[in-house]
Amino acid sequence: RFTPRIFSGIQPSGGLTLGNYLGALKRFAALQGNESETIYCIVDLHAITVWQDPDVLRQRIREGAAAFMASGVDPRQSILFNQSQVSAHAEMAWLFNTVARVGWMYRMTQFKDKAGKNSENASLGLLAYPALMAADILTYQATAVPVGEDQKQHLELTRDIAAKFNHDYKIEHFPITEPLIEGVATRVMSLRDGSKKMSKSDPSDASRINLTDDADAIAQKIRKARTDADPLPGNVEGLKDRPEARNLVNIYAALADETPDAVLARFEGQGFGVFKPALAEVAVEALSPITRKMSEFMDDPAEIDRILGHGAERADELATPILERTKEIMGL
Ligand code: ADP
Ligand code: NA
Repeated sequence: RFTPRIFSGIQPSGGLTLGNYLGALKRFAALQGNESETIYCIVDLHAITVWQDPDVLRQRIREGAAAFMASGVDPRQSILFNQSQVSAHAEMAWLFNTVARVGWMYRMTQFKDKAGKNSENASLGLLAYPALMAADILTYQATAVPVGEDQKQHLELTRDIAAKFNHDYKIEHFPITEPLIEGVATRVMSLRDGSKKMSKSDPSDASRINLTDDADAIAQKIRKARTDADPLPGNVEGLKDRPEARNLVNIYAALADETPDAVLARFEGQGFGVFKPALAEVAVEALSPITRKMSEFMDDPAEIDRILGHGAERADELATPILERTKEIMGL
């Protein structure tokens, strides 16, 4: 009974990576034009849960919008906007702060990772982050959310908040949103450490491939990527205990829209001396048009602001009645 609606967001918390592209942006673009409405957001209120320099943040919000559009998100087909421009997100988040339990928040692994040892000194916003994320999604009664593997736990919390709200107020007001964690690139790993995800929020990892990297930088990062010395097997079974090799094969497959088995069928028996240059070629071919379009969009910041402003108006039209109804249900 809920309108099929897809929502997802990306934080303007750093330069976007190949992980963000394959796990999120590329899929956002592919989901357009189906039966579901698509609503995409630059989640700046999430970014400020850790310190952001205001001038850098302003720039990264525009860069985020440029990256969405360069990756194929069309602001005429999708609603593309910046979170802080639609006040329903923050207001709904407060309502959800009263629904969610403190214990749910303390269990979030991202909070533990980002807060580190001195968690008493983390911002309160970092702890409450998943309630804001639930608000982002449920303010549109979104039925599905495409995300990478790292967001799975937060999405479960969104479902918990929706279910508790519906139960407490005895009304099917919010959908139990489905996570769309699909494809071979739902968790792109760091090129220097196969046990960590590639993340824009980890400034210490110089191995990550950024959407603004030129062809030489991409090729060099792939050449330097950590691997073992064995030749490639003929199918993915053979990559079981080889996380670095599996990561590179998955990246190739996702970039080339092939299955990992199809990639391995071609490279069986070859070493990384052959595979890495081939991967670099595929990566440059996929990413260089995006890098170029991003920089074209960035040449006209006023146009980006206009597009985001228009997107915010459309988002607001959907969000406001749902927020108002939520308040009414709660007796506000
Ligand atoms: P980051 O973790 O890089 O700071 P965000 O938290 O803003 O990125 O996440 C934006 C989207 O990109 C989310 O859907 C997230 O799951 C996805 N994502 C982030 N890193 C990766 C990765 N290494 N592999 C696949 N998807 C990723
Ligand atoms: Na993340």
